Amino acid sequence: MATLRLGDTAPNFSQDSSEGPIDFYEWAGNSWVVLFSHPADFTPVCTTELGKTAALATEFAKRGVKPIALSVDPVGKHKEWIADINETQNTTVNFPILADADRKVSDLYDMIHPNASATATVRSVFIIDPKHLLRTTFTYPASTGRNFDEILRVIDSLQLTDGYKVATPVNWKDGDDVVIIPSIQDPAEIAERFPKGFKAVKPYLRLTPQPNK
Ligand code: BEZ
Repeated sequence: MATLRLGDTAPNFSQDSSEGPIDFYEWAGNSWVVLFSHPADFTPVCTTELGKTAALATEFAKRGVKPIALSVDPVGKHKEWIADINETQNTTVNFPILADADRKVSDLYDMIHPNASATATVRSVFIIDPKHLLRTTFTYPASTGRNFDEILRVIDSLQLTDGYKVATPVNWKDGDDVVIIPSIQDPAEIAERFPKGFKAVKPYLRLTPQPNK
């Protein structure tokens, strides 16, 4: 499998999950998707990550995003683990965990990095848009839990770019000024798109208030 790159079509698959068999494209529908892998069931860091994902259900839903996790263990084990996650993280896991015991999806998405571990998936994240295009990937080691606020922040940035032709500067947070993307040069278009105005720090660095606030 060639490495998946940004802008590629995220490949479809069918796989069993904690919520029954899933055809990925059918399950995704018109939503954005966060597909993320875990080294194994009953591991401590993953337990906290899955609890946090469940706790952020409203935040994902607000953005039209469906989370789906993956671990290379069978459904029965996932279900037992989910009971532990709900108990220890004080939440209700409300999204599927792919049961990728045959590594079909892990191989398809290159989630096993043999020099890190021959058997366990690393912590991969794939942010996929409603056209099934891969918009963001990142990869963490097994020992480092991911920052799910950062996942939401990246989704906000991508959706701002799609909706308003703005990009987000360093350490941007929701509500901060954003930058007008360089391809927008026509003054009439700028005036129409950014009625709140903009500040040109340099001709190529034009700050404007976040348009959807
Ligand atoms: C975990 O998944 O919790 C984990 C995996 C490898 C090292 C440390 C933690």
